[in-house]
Amino acid sequence: MADPRFRRILIKLSGEALQGDQGYGISPPVLESIAEQIREVTELGVEVAIVIGGGNIFRGVRASAQGMDRASADYMGMLATCINSMALQDALEAQGLPTRVQTALEIKEIAEPYIRRRAIRHLEKGRVVIFGAGTGNPYFTTDTAASLRAMEMHCQAILKATKVDGVYDSDPASNPDAKRFETLEHSEVLQQQLNVMDSTAIAMCRDNQMPIIVFNLYEKGNIRRAVLGEKVGTLVGTLDRQPPPVSGV
Ligand code: GTP
Repeated sequence: MADPRFRRILIKLSGEALQGDQGYGISPPVLESIAEQIREVTELGVEVAIVIGGGNIFRGVRASAQGMDRASADYMGMLATCINSMALQDALEAQGLPTRVQTALEIKEIAEPYIRRRAIRHLEKGRVVIFGAGTGNPYFTTDTAASLRAMEMHCQAILKATKVDGVYDSDPASNPDAKRFETLEHSEVLQQQLNVMDSTAIAMCRDNQMPIIVFNLYEKGNIRRAVLGEKVGTLVGTLDRQPPPVSGV
């Protein structure tokens, strides 16, 4: 069997990743294709945690720019991530994968509350754990939730799935001469204000030496390639300092 570079990873999916071409909501074929890619990785024996955004349903930042109270808008965004978490859970289970959803806001009727040690135990048992409701706090993004959970779960890398194949010095959609970086330091991302994750998330990853691999989700097999240590997209940080994940229980 192929030898994975990591034993435990956190995949950050944007909410928009689920909507496909339809511009809103959840596209079942896109969801199925993402679930297939995640199954491929679990078949390598890798433990997978997932944080998913909610922008395909509701964008807190945009609503607050239009006059809504930022905290209320962010809580609505957190609920949107719970909808996406349930959709992804359903798609993963259709692939035969055991999953657990844990939410940072208690909605016990539909998901477990977030309990760090329990989540680690689920991962050790080979369950894919999806974290919903961000960090449970307004003013924090789901990128920051991804950084926080990756640290708490002792993940060895964050795999940040995007629509482009890495980090560029300018927007490749509008600038044909945009240059893609193969590697970057976290501090360079912050200094150059590159569009990877928000600054809180990047600063947390920098301070805790958490590498981030930014890659194109729509190229099938990319998650598997990244997990096998092949060069995919842009690596932020270094893979040299990653200890094996510890048990939390
Ligand atoms: P083990 O103890 O390792 O066997 O884990 P487990 O998750 O299978 O044990 P548990 O008996 O706690 O959970 C059984 C099922 O109930 C799983 O599908 C859990 O996700 C679900 N579950 C557990 N706690 C909650 C909760 O607070 N709310 C909801 N909605 N489901 C829960």
